[in-house]
Amino acid sequence: MEHKIPVTVLGATGSVGQRFVQLLDGHPWFQVVSLTGSERSEGRPYGEICHWVMDEPMPGWAREIPVTPSIPDPGETRLAFSALPADTARRIEPAFAEAGVWVCSNASAFRREADVPILLPEVNPGHVDLVERQRRSRGWKAGIVTNPNCSSTGLTVALKALKDAFGLKKVFVVTLQAVSGAGYPGLPSMDILDNVIPFIGGEEEKLEWEPRKMLGALGDGQVELDPVRISAQVNRVPITDGHLASVAVEFAAPPTPEQAANALRDYTAPEVSRDLPSSPHPILQVRSEPDRPQTRLDRRTGRGMTTVVGRIRPDTLLDLRMVVLSHNTIRGAAGGAVYNAELLVRRGIVAE
Ligand SMILES: NC(=O)c1ccc[n+]([C@@H]2O[C@H](COP(=O)([O-])OP(=O)(O)OC[C@H]3O[C@@H](n4cnc5c(N)ncnc54)[C@H](OP(=O)(O)O)[C@@H]3O)[C@@H](O)[C@H]2O)c1
Repeated sequence: MEHKIPVTVLGATGSVGQRFVQLLDGHPWFQVVSLTGSERSEGRPYGEICHWVMDEPMPGWAREIPVTPSIPDPGETRLAFSALPADTARRIEPAFAEAGVWVCSNASAFRREADVPILLPEVNPGHVDLVERQRRSRGWKAGIVTNPNCSSTGLTVALKALKDAFGLKKVFVVTLQAVSGAGYPGLPSMDILDNVIPFIGGEEEKLEWEPRKMLGALGDGQVELDPVRISAQVNRVPITDGHLASVAVEFAAPPTPEQAANALRDYTAPEVSRDLPSSPHPILQVRSEPDRPQTRLDRRTGRGMTTVVGRIRPDTLLDLRMVVLSHNTIRGAAGGAVYNAELLVRRGIVAE
């Protein structure tokens, strides 16, 4: 690309916002020109106000950028990455779309709207067509696309490969979710150290619904939910990054563990999203060791964009069991939104 597309990060000082700044450093298509935050941060240089918790130094260019309010300026940017809390996103993201700035959002605010896609480019890139209906019915110059909740992400990528090969009937999932999923500063250390908390507000509802939208078929201007039934139990555990899920699946045509492993290993993305800058390589990695995937050892597979699956074995209640690992702030949040934006560019929806 001759000229990079200028972009803004909304909510740049938080857990996901910092990951955006890290991942967009040196991106071949996008250049960050502004960073926003709440009233707490406005007017202060990013390097001064942001309590940086990433595992690499803050990029030099980001340090001097003054944190600004989240007000659209289509003359400056055509694309916004949103890491805003859901209630704030509901108010701010439409203002950007209306003004002509495309929004790739991490927030849950619009995921349930019929004209807003929840996108995983390696799963359902065709759902991006919903934005036409969205722009028409809302009268916006641009639109909003979302990525799923971080715990829905890895599960849906694995389920897509299995659905295509064998058909899905029922899924029972138990998650072990990292503290970075609760934002920064997130949970008090006295609550989570030496502890497992078997509750994350709203998370089970998202995990039981969002995969059905992403696996559903796009019909006449809306997505028909996939009929698979999902039951979820979520847990917050004292690790920094990476959501692990123990999953049991009942299939329409039950495979052997070997057949399931082959289907996961062989899964390829639709052509349009196969070679984007953030495309995962591989999309799914299947581990055969009895004790993998492990959160600390495997979350960075494929630069944090790969979904890692292991422990595929027969189940005594449903057909098969497996363990799925996905990096929650990379594939499950900022990396996923950047991948969605690349799809918008590849499809010509965001102009180069
Ligand atoms: N963490 C994950 O793994 C994950 C995964 C998927 C999706 N998400 C979603 O991504 C979003 C961000 O999550 P997070 O974990 O990064 O949260 P977070 O650490 O709490 O960060 C929130 C960000 O929003 C900014 N903000 C808050 N109120 C604002 C306002 N009124 N106007 C402008 N900016 C405001 C904050 O700025 P100040 O610092 O200046 O207050 C901060 O930069 C949430 O919707 C979350 O549900 C998170």
